[in-house]
Amino acid sequence: MGLFDSKKSHQAGQVDMSRLPRHIAIIMDGNGRWAKQRGLPRTAGHKVGAEVFRKIATYCKELGVEYLTVYAFSTENWKRPADEVSTIMGLLKQYMLEAIESMERDQIRLKFFGDMSAISPELQEMVERTNAISREIDGFQANICLNYGGRDELLRAARAFAADCVAGERSADALTEAEFGEYLFSAGIPDPELIIRPSGEVRLSNFLLWQCAYSEFYFCDTLWPDFNERTLDEAIIDYQKRDRRFGGVKK
Ligand code: IPE
Ligand code: IPE
Ligand code: MG
Repeated sequence: MGLFDSKKSHQAGQVDMSRLPRHIAIIMDGNGRWAKQRGLPRTAGHKVGAEVFRKIATYCKELGVEYLTVYAFSTENWKRPADEVSTIMGLLKQYMLEAIESMERDQIRLKFFGDMSAISPELQEMVERTNAISREIDGFQANICLNYGGRDELLRAARAFAADCVAGERSADALTEAEFGEYLFSAGIPDPELIIRPSGEVRLSNFLLWQCAYSEFYFCDTLWPDFNERTLDEAIIDYQKRDRRFGGVKK
């Protein structure tokens, strides 16, 4: 490769720090296949996946991304074997325990999106504690989707809005997109500019159905346990090449 080519490829590999997405969302997929490829139980993949989440959250914060939303457990994931579900819940508990100790020091806010009524009272209590700590912190925010489904989120919002209408606090005729957004888990948070799904699957699997209206999608074959800072850079660089028109015409 000549000097010109290497310079070009170097330039092609740089994240433009002045045009970072404010909000990145990731479907952390491929843990099971990663483990299977190594002859390990699926749970081994979830353990490594949890470490990768820590690494990527730290990296997003360092880059200056404001919000990272990750899909950790869907409303459909209860269909999995009980030991797999309990391993995932155990890893979440471990993360929350650490977060309760460190989020103030690291200035990381945590928010959980999803139906918390179905998780254990112990985890629910930890969610409350991380929420309370988050209220005292400014800056980077990680949103963890736990027992989350996009349709479930929309149904809850519709129910809550209907109840407010019955109570005379809202008017159905006057409902706007912004007002409806206030009923979602993501209230007050900008929509993700970039949604990443590793592992080769090309679908949303019930993730952020409302918020993804104008998101840019990035799919790659890397399995989540192999995902690293460089993979995230590649996704951001790809995003930065997109022409986001929002229904308008090219500039
Ligand atoms: C993603 O990895 C983690 C969760 C859904 C909890 P998977 O467990 O779905 O891994 P694959 O897709 O089976 O490889
Ligand atoms: C989506 O992945 C949910 C999470 C990553 C938490 P799945 O592995 O559950 O999705 P499908 O079954 O491939 O659509
Ligand atoms: Mg999967």
